[in-house]
Amino acid sequence: MKTNPVLDAIRNRRSVRTYDPRPLPADVLATIVEAGTLAPTGMNAQTFHFTVIQDAEKLHELNRLIRTALIRYEGRQLNEDYCCYYDAPVLVIASNEPTRTGGMDCACALQNMFLAAHSLGIASCWINQLSYTCDAPEVRAYLKRLGVPTVHKVYGCAALGYNGGKEPAAHPRKEGLVSYAE
Ligand SMILES: Cc1cc2nc3c(=O)[nH]c(=O)nc-3n(C[C@H](O)[C@H](O)[C@H](O)COP(=O)(O)O)c2cc1C
Repeated sequence: MKTNPVLDAIRNRRSVRTYDPRPLPADVLATIVEAGTLAPTGMNAQTFHFTVIQDAEKLHELNRLIRTALIRYEGRQLNEDYCCYYDAPVLVIASNEPTRTGGMDCACALQNMFLAAHSLGIASCWINQLSYTCDAPEVRAYLKRLGVPTVHKVYGCAALGYNGGKEPAAHPRKEGLVSYAE
């Protein structure tokens, strides 16, 4: 198999779920978010939006509203100390208009951010709970205050920060993921 820095990042990135509270340097964070904006989009729509949250109080409040919505509307049983973003110092909300490619465009952008983060020594994880709860009235009202466009759905979030624990092990690939048509 070939190797180069891009392939190294693809092979070695892991989802990290324990974070150090240290903030990210502004230029590092800006570079990661820029990588998201450089992702391909269907018909070059570029309708996605990235809302970057670094303020711990805002993150706590968002988490509280998500937890309440998951309990109220999805019947989930969650502890008081539940934190969907693993106390990462940064959460980037990827949102888009609910078009045919809106979610796909966000997924491409999130993977770009994960790979860019990895290449800069920053850990990351896809956080999906806001995708299920963004239209709960209490959550939607707060998303508006945070700057998420009101006509957008949230398609995923990126937790970003320095790894505060061990490097997670890679998951082996399952058999039969690829076939070459004859
Ligand atoms: C669409 C999608 C949603 C995910 N949602 C979550 C999530 O809400 N919380 C979480 O901890 N990990 C989430 N993950 C991360 C996966 O659990 C992780 O990618 C998978 O276990 C493989 O591990 P790896 O990323 O280290 O290779 C999500 C990943 C994807 C692609």
